[in-house]
Amino acid sequence: MKTSADGRSDAGQPRNRERERADLGEGRFRPSERASALAAPYHGAVIDLSDRHFLSTLDFSLEEVDHLVRRALDLKARAREDACPRLLEGRVGALVFFNPSVRTRVSCESAMTRLGGSAIPITPGKDTWNFEVGEGVVMDGNTQEHVRELAGVLSRMCHFIGVRKSELITVGSARAEASADYAELARDPFLHALAEHGDVPVVNLESNRFHPLQGLADMATIRERLGEPAGRKYVLTWSWHPKSLPVATPHSQLLAAADLGMDVTVLRPDGWELEPEVMGAARERARSLGGEVTETADAEAAYEGAHVVCAKAWGSLDYYGRFEQEAAEKEGLRPDWIVDEARMEKTDDAFFMHCLPVRRNIVVTDGVLDSDRSAVIDEAENRLWTAAALFAALAGK
Ligand code: CP
Repeated sequence: MKTSADGRSDAGQPRNRERERADLGEGRFRPSERASALAAPYHGAVIDLSDRHFLSTLDFSLEEVDHLVRRALDLKARAREDACPRLLEGRVGALVFFNPSVRTRVSCESAMTRLGGSAIPITPGKDTWNFEVGEGVVMDGNTQEHVRELAGVLSRMCHFIGVRKSELITVGSARAEASADYAELARDPFLHALAEHGDVPVVNLESNRFHPLQGLADMATIRERLGEPAGRKYVLTWSWHPKSLPVATPHSQLLAAADLGMDVTVLRPDGWELEPEVMGAARERARSLGGEVTETADAEAAYEGAHVVCAKAWGSLDYYGRFEQEAAEKEGLRPDWIVDEARMEKTDDAFFMHCLPVRRNIVVTDGVLDSDRSAVIDEAENRLWTAAALFAALAGK
């Protein structure tokens, strides 16, 4: 059958659709690929996202987010057939990492390379200067370059700038005294200064408040497993963890499920609520698609009938900056706030998600993580295809 450049047949269907359907019963594909064949195909509609910043999925309409997710799954299918289009030929991205990373760094570099472009990772203070973000600062300390010049310079040399900068990772992990309160950090000044002073799209690779690329990958994972997720039950469960981890990832995961129109339950102990403004935005977006967002501390009720269980540890905003006090307060929560086989049995055959890295037998038991219910490796792989879809879209391709 004759196919077009985007891999579609004359009838508008992906070219291997019939073969994939035939293969479904033979068990030849791993779960994600089996489910991919069930998901609605990328519709190929033209939605212009060129030259936009990607700081949060909230900056994008539901239609635009959905477009990116479907496009990511389409790119994934085409790559499986060795038909990855070179949409980023000649394009260069700078990836600035103030914090450690495996998935974000490798997925972005791999995405740019596979689409014919290239990426330059930058580790501030290690292989570059230390950067200053304060306005009007007398730079007589250990910062040598201001974000104003950095944004201008990178914009002349690169087509995208990605940045991971989360004080909450550093401060929470070190259990040091916070240098600012949460409200101050949630303004993400470095990220927004880059976007303001640069001339190319800035992509948030995780800030204090959002991790939107994780959100896109989670949406892709849910869509490829459930086909049409609207109305299905998604549980985002807090888990005990020895450290006070950032809220950026659970914020973006919450928004991801809301943007799919799911019935979202945030399961967390009292005192570990997510940011009210983000909860409100998630509620609004879910409702517009017929879904809803609720919160509870009741694990029995939350797991009952769930189709997706996503675990994440996060620090208490109430205790922000008082990490030792928070650690003492949450010690008693440890036995009850882990995802285990018994809890998963209460669900409606739910699959398990986690953004990784995950602490085994702290956040989730080996029994769940090593079972067929676990989607964590598919979820990580989808970081690659959602990053690819995003960079291509920001390049106007
Ligand atoms: N999930 C995630 O962002 O992983 P990394 O911190 O390894 O990038």
